[in-house]
Amino acid sequence: MLKEKTAIIEALANEGWLVIPDFLNTQQILQLREQALSGYAAGKFKQASVGQGNSKTIQTEIRRDAVLWLDDHEAGVAGEFLAWLAELRTELNQALFLSLVEAELHFALYPEGGFYRKHIDNFRGSSARLVTVILYLNQDWQPEQGGQLRIYLGNEVREIAPQAGILVLFLSERFEHEVLPTEAERLSLTGWLRRRS
Ligand code: OGA
Ligand code: MN
Repeated sequence: MLKEKTAIIEALANEGWLVIPDFLNTQQILQLREQALSGYAAGKFKQASVGQGNSKTIQTEIRRDAVLWLDDHEAGVAGEFLAWLAELRTELNQALFLSLVEAELHFALYPEGGFYRKHIDNFRGSSARLVTVILYLNQDWQPEQGGQLRIYLGNEVREIAPQAGILVLFLSERFEHEVLPTEAERLSLTGWLRRRS
């Protein structure tokens, strides 16, 4: 996780997004997978909803995944990733004069047939989420399994396979994106760097 944060900040400031392949090694990925899958087996994941507060509803025509929120204090690789995000947050604040105050992070599991239609990562009327980070945890992902992240970059569209170790970062407000239907169980660790809401 010792990726050069200066380069990340530069890419976010200039392009608004970037992809880092091999952000984690196999051992680290296996540990995160194990944590997520044992949480899933223990029934700790909840069907993901859309909206917030009173308007929060489960809408399986919009998104079909289940999530498990992480604590602020996690052991192991999850804890290291949270610490890395905290450092990135501090450096972003210094370099770009932002006021990011926290990170939130959840595991997301898309079952076979799961998807998340085109959306922006903020609730209506809120712009608390400034940076989206997605770390994929699927080893040997095959193209025919689908489940790509499709990101709409103005006049071009990119598709990123949810291959283990890839870290994607983008400005939450700037880019619409979606998760294409997945033909296999698809696991990720997804989070946001937030301003005070
Ligand atoms: C999300 C999301 C994308 C992905 O959880 O908001 O867009 O590739 N996830 O998992
Ligand atoms: Mn999203």
